[in-house]
Order: sequence, then C-alpha cells, then structure tokens
Amino acid sequence: MSETQRAAAEPTARKRLFIKTYGCQMNVYDSERMRDLLTPLGYEPADAPDGADLVILNTCHIREKAAEKVYSELGRLKPLKEAKAASGDPMTIAVAGCVAQAEGAEIQRRAPVVDLVVGPQTYHKLPELIASVHRGRGEGLETEFEVEEKFDRLAAPVRQVEGYSAFVTVQEGCDKFCSFCVVPYTRGAEWSRPVDQVVAEVRALAARGVREVTLLGQNVNAYHGEPPAGDAADGTWGLGRLVRHLALIDGIERIRFTTSHPKDMDDDLIAAFADEPKLMPYFHLPVQAGSDRILKAMNRKHTAAEYLDIIARLREARPDIAISGDMIVGFPGETEADFEATMALVREVEYASCFSFKYSRRPGTPGAALPGQVDEAVKSERLARLQALLGEQQEAFNASMVGRTLPVLFEKPGRHAGQLSGRSPYLQAVHCEAPEALIGTIADVEIVSASRNALAGRLKDGESRAA
Ligand code: SAH
Ligand code: SF4
Ligand code: F3S
Repeated sequence: MSETQRAAAEPTARKRLFIKTYGCQMNVYDSERMRDLLTPLGYEPADAPDGADLVILNTCHIREKAAEKVYSELGRLKPLKEAKAASGDPMTIAVAGCVAQAEGAEIQRRAPVVDLVVGPQTYHKLPELIASVHRGRGEGLETEFEVEEKFDRLAAPVRQVEGYSAFVTVQEGCDKFCSFCVVPYTRGAEWSRPVDQVVAEVRALAARGVREVTLLGQNVNAYHGEPPAGDAADGTWGLGRLVRHLALIDGIERIRFTTSHPKDMDDDLIAAFADEPKLMPYFHLPVQAGSDRILKAMNRKHTAAEYLDIIARLREARPDIAISGDMIVGFPGETEADFEATMALVREVEYASCFSFKYSRRPGTPGAALPGQVDEAVKSERLARLQALLGEQQEAFNASMVGRTLPVLFEKPGRHAGQLSGRSPYLQAVHCEAPEALIGTIADVEIVSASRNALAGRLKDGESRAA
C-alpha cells in the first residue's frame, strides 16, 4: 500500500460507501472496480447515501436527460452531507464517469457540494484523491486519459463478484466519431486490454463461481489485444480469437459481448457464432437509422444494405441468432421518408429486442451544429411508432419460444416464493419454479408462456446440466 493509500485508510474504522451508477454496462463494471479498489481502505458498501462516508455518482453523458439527472441527485445529497457534517463527520462526494470527463471542474462550480471529480480513465487514483481531499489539499480533479495505467493498477485488487454473470471490459474508447455521440470525447481513443490480462480476470471470476462473462467495449469487435506471452503469432488478436480462447477456461459456460460496430465486423467473429457453442446466439449490433442519407450525416461509415448483409451472414452462420440494436429518431434533417426507411429496415431485420431513443443534441458534437433540428413533438411521434413496431417484434420473438426447451442460467430467486429467475441463451428473462440449489447452474426449462419482457417455464426433469 502506498503512503497516500495508507493515509486514505486512516482512521481504520469501517467506512460506508454508496455508489450510484448511471448509463451503460461499462459504468456498471467501473463501479464494481471502484468498490474493489476502496475495499482494502476499509470502505463497505451501503445501499443508501444517508450517512455514507463516501458517495460516488458514476455518471453518463450520452443524452441530456442522463447528464441532468446527476445535478438533481447532487441537490438531494446536499442536506445529507450537511446532516453528516453536523454529526461531526464529513461526507465526501465524488462525481465519476462520463459527465465528470465532459464537464470537469465545471461540475464543482455548478455544484460546490462535490469534493472530487474523476474521469473514467483515472478512477484508479481515487485512493490518492480521497486522501488529498481529506487533508484539505489538491483540486480534487483528475480527468487525464490513462487507460493503460488504469488497467495495470486495477489488476491487483481482487474482484468481488455477486452472482454468476459478470462483465469484463476488454476494450475501451472509440475512434468512430458518430456525429451525435459524446463517447469518443469522454472515453478517449480505442484501446484493447492484453489477452493475458483478460484471461487472468476471467479465470479469477470462474474460480468465484461465475458461469457467464459479457465482454465489454464501446467498440468491442474492434478488439485487437496484445497476444498472450509465448504466442508465436505476430500481430494482435481479434475478438473471435479471444472468445474461443476464453471458452477454454473451466467453469465458463457462456460468453457474450457488447457493443459492436458494423464497420468492425470480420468473418472470424461471424464464424465464431457457428463453431463456438459457448458464444451465446444473441448479438447487439446498433444501426441507428435506415436511411443512407441520415447514416452519412451521422458519420456511421456504413449503409443500410451493408448492415443487412452482416445480419444475413450472421443468420447463415447461426440461424437462430437473436438480433438486437439501437435506433435514433429525429436526427437533424430526418424527413418522414428517412424515418420510413428506418421502419422498413426494422421490418426486414425483425429484432428480438432493440433500444430506441429520440436524438438528443449534445454540446460539442458535430450533430449539435447541423441545420434542420427536428421538432420535439415530431421526434416523440416517430419514437412512438418505432417502439410500437419493436414491441410487436419482441413479443413475437418471445412467443416463438413457447413449447421449446431452453437451457437457463439461474441467477437469483424470482419474484414469487419457490421461483428462480434466470436468462435464456437469447438473453430473455426466464421465471421458473425451481429449488434454490440450482442458482448458479444451467438447467433445461420448457417454456410454457411468454410476454413482451419475459418467459415462464417448467423445469425439465428437475436436473441441472452443468454445475
Ligand atoms: N458504441 C457504444 C454506444 C454507446 S451509446 C457502446 O459501447 O454502447 C448507446 C446508444 O445511445 C447509441 O448506440 C445510440 O443509439 C444512443 N445515442 C448516442 N448518442 C445519442 C444522442 N446524442 N441522442 C440520442 N441517442 C444517442
Ligand atoms: Fe458513439 Fe458511434 Fe463510437 Fe458508438 S461507435 S461510441 S455511437 S461514436
Ligand atoms: Fe454513458 Fe459514458 Fe456509457 S456517456 S453510455 S456512461 S460510455
């Protein structure tokens, strides 16, 4: 432990840590890693901010609403911080994540209640930053891009995991610069973790009972990691190769990854869906829009036809693959005809699930300066039409499971007594009566009914397939 880490740990009394996570799965992973980093310093997780010694808001900047939520939360924290101070103890408030990266010191100007601001690539420095805030020194601002150093530092703390499915960041950052998106500015340039580092983390997770890993990256299929030590191949490894390699780890039964970009699709990754049984038949491939004119204005670097061709090749490799995506309606200049092209693409793909958003004008992105910003009412109306169609598709996909037997990874007790809740290979939530002993195992479930958001089933033979 370094001097500063020791200082942060003093006094050694137990301290309470509350972390609130906004945004994407990578933020969920980062929050877990922040907790891992702070555990050796005496911080224990709390489920509410009241009375906590340290509150971290791990924030998202992707849409205006996401960023504004942070300031409302800071408003709610103010009286809690004052109450804690009145009882003689400080509450330290940290803003982490993408709002921290995008707004930096501006956050403390707007919300003086904030003690420190730490970006997504520098949270490994939290122990030092907390120590300097406690000593009344330092600016409490750290937003450099140090992704490589971050993962080196994070390698040491043991990952505490709850449950049987875990996220593992393998790639971070984005060089695509879609004209609507803040991520290239908040997460920095594309960077891949070395294969050995990923393997070590996945092995440790498997040893703790994890059965499913979801590999994360803002452009995860752009993964090009340094090969394992002793590997004869020159050059880096792609995602397909990494997936096949991780599949060899004992205990890991299921592998998923997200989020991919159409431009980074390669044949090896498509082939992995055909020949690697541990790679689950579910693929999240955002397209954003169906009109080539809009795709060009979005700087997506692919056409609708190219996207559809990838989907066709995936389905050839793995006929039952479930396709998921992201859509934006109301990008500047989007006409009714452009929107109809999005609807037509959706009809052609038949999504198993798909996220859809109204375009949100983000300061500093090229899209924000484009003419032809679309009226809010028009955006709402288009989003409603799109979501009605996507909802029907999701419902139809779920209904097609009735009568089939699916292997389900049971993760936790269900809502009703005697019930467990788990996931199908297609990432659907499945509820089923089953003994608690099956939590953390994969068992066959016959699907008896389906709704838009979940499946219900009956345990086959009461037997677990894999311990
Ligand atoms: N490739 C990234 C995408 C992150 S953003 C990843 O790793 O997940 C997730 C989705 O948010 C995008 O696919 C896009 O559909 C949506 N989005 C991004 N910027 C947006 C904006 N300005 N307005 C509305 N939706 C946006
Ligand atoms: Fe954003 Fe586009 Fe990069 Fe995804 S690929 S993170 S949408 S810029
Ligand atoms: Fe949000 Fe940052 Fe993720 S902006 S979506 S938390 S990469």
